[in-house]
Formats: sequence, structure tokens, C-alpha cells
Amino acid sequence: MDKYAVLGNPVNHSRSPAIHAMFRDETGQDMEYGTLFCPLGSFRETADSFRSGGGRGLNITVPFKEDAFRYADTLTERAKTAGAVNTLRFNDDGTVLGDNTDGAGFIADLKRLKWPVSGKRVLVMGAGGAARGILMPLQEERPLMLFLANRTVSRAEALAREFPKIVAGSYEDLASRGSFDLVINATSGSLSGTVPPLPDDIFAPGARAYDLMYTPSGMTVFLEWALSHGCCQVSDGLGMLVGQARESFRLWRGVSPDSERVLKALREMLRAEA
Ligand code: ATR
Repeated sequence: MDKYAVLGNPVNHSRSPAIHAMFRDETGQDMEYGTLFCPLGSFRETADSFRSGGGRGLNITVPFKEDAFRYADTLTERAKTAGAVNTLRFNDDGTVLGDNTDGAGFIADLKRLKWPVSGKRVLVMGAGGAARGILMPLQEERPLMLFLANRTVSRAEALAREFPKIVAGSYEDLASRGSFDLVINATSGSLSGTVPPLPDDIFAPGARAYDLMYTPSGMTVFLEWALSHGCCQVSDGLGMLVGQARESFRLWRGVSPDSERVLKALREMLRAEA
């Protein structure tokens, strides 16, 4: 049976095995998908031994996405842009393909939500790996303007320089930038319960807010803040998680499962556990 796993440290909390089990059942694929704990500093050995034991592919999570980037023999364009790999495919000819499906998963989730990007004013908060992964696919959707705000402005400026037409600045700079139609939280602030210091009038009429982080209830501190400051619709990042998994599944198995159904089941699972 073809073997797949999510590799990380820690990795026990990962929802990927549950998601891929649902994808497998739906598509009738003959495969198994587990978790693979990787000691820090041992990425290559761990991936090699999974491969020699019959592994066909891996999802890669924190903190190994850059290691996976270096491990791959060939990289997709989107992995090159992201500078990180979340999906490895072990090809029959012995080569390793590295891909990054995070950005595609994010865009797929915006499409599921029917939140258009084209012609909209979009604000991305954060300048770490999470932000980097969504900038190119966002830009390909042709927003009217894409502003990148970060606490450490130099980081936002450095990241924006890698992309045409992205404007970078501080949260204070936002005061003179008007309102936005879509505000995306790509900071790790939600983990610690902090909301970046946004102006109170940041949301344009009908605006939407997306948090790349997910919670069982679907709410985060940022999304709560958004709803109390004139934002119309909010979404956490659970759909993005399912979306990136679906893209990985497609890369490995050549079939696309129904992510909407899986997302619903996963939300129910998280709620029941909470
Ligand atoms: P990731 O790979 O998840 O993006 P990261 O590279 O550590 O993680 O980046 C975390 C991002 O969250 C950064 O943009 C960070 O801002 P700085 O570059 O100024 O550190 C941002 N961040 C974390 N905590 C924050 C907070 N309390 N308020 C605002 N931004 C925060």
C-alpha cells in the first residue's frame, strides 16, 4: 500500500491524517497516511528512511519547510516563490519533487467563500513564512492594491521587494491608506491572543477578514475584533488547511476530492473535541 505522512516536530496535533483519511475514503485510493515525528536537525535522515521504507510522499510542517526545500531535486514555481516546501513527492525514477500548496489552498478557500480579490483593496498583515506563501497567488488574482503591513517594517519592505506592485509599511502607515475590502491576518498574533494595531476604520463597507489560523469555533481574536469594527464576513483558516491538503492529494494521486464535505466534517470533529 502506498505510504504517506505528515512530518513535523511537534506533529501529533496535526489534522492532516484525518483530512487525508477522508480524502482516501471518498476517492477509494489504496493508501495510508500517518504522522512522522522528526528530531530537530535530522530532516534528511528521517525523510530518507521513510522513503526507503516505501514512502511515496510527505507533507512537511513546522519547522522543516526550508529543509524540505533543500531536499527536493526539482521544485515547482510556486515552491520557489514561497522559498519553502510543504509537499514532497517521491517519483518512480528516484527523484524528489518539492511543491508548496499553501497559497493554492488559500486561494481555493477564498473561491469557496466566494470572496473576490480582483479589483479589491487587500491588506496582508505579517511578513513571515505564512505571509510569503500567499503573496504571489494573491497577486495573481489581480487586486486593485496589495498592502503588506508588519510590526517590523524592514521585514515587510524586504519581502515586498521580491514582488512587483506590493506596497509595504507599518500599522501606523495604514492611517493614511484608506479602508480595505479584504484584510488577511498572516501574523502569529492570534496564537498569543494579540490583534495587530489596526486603525478602527480599516474596513470598507462589505469588507471581509480572513485569519490564516484556525480554531474549533472558527473565531480568533482578530476575527472578533474585525466583526466589532464594521467587517461583514469573517473566516478562519480551516478551509485553507483542507485546501492545501487537497492540492497535495491531487499531486500524489491525480484525483481531486470534494473539500467542502471534508471541511464540514473536520469542523464538526474539532467542535466535538473542544
Ligand atoms: P510564520 O512562519 O508563521 O509566518 P514568523 O516567520 O515567525 O512565523 O512570522 C510571524 C509574523 O507574525 C511576523 O510578521 C511577526 O511580526 P515581526 O516580523 O514584527 O516579528 C508577526 N507577529 C507576531 N506576533 C505579533 C504581534 N503580537 N503583533 C503584530 N505582529 C506580530
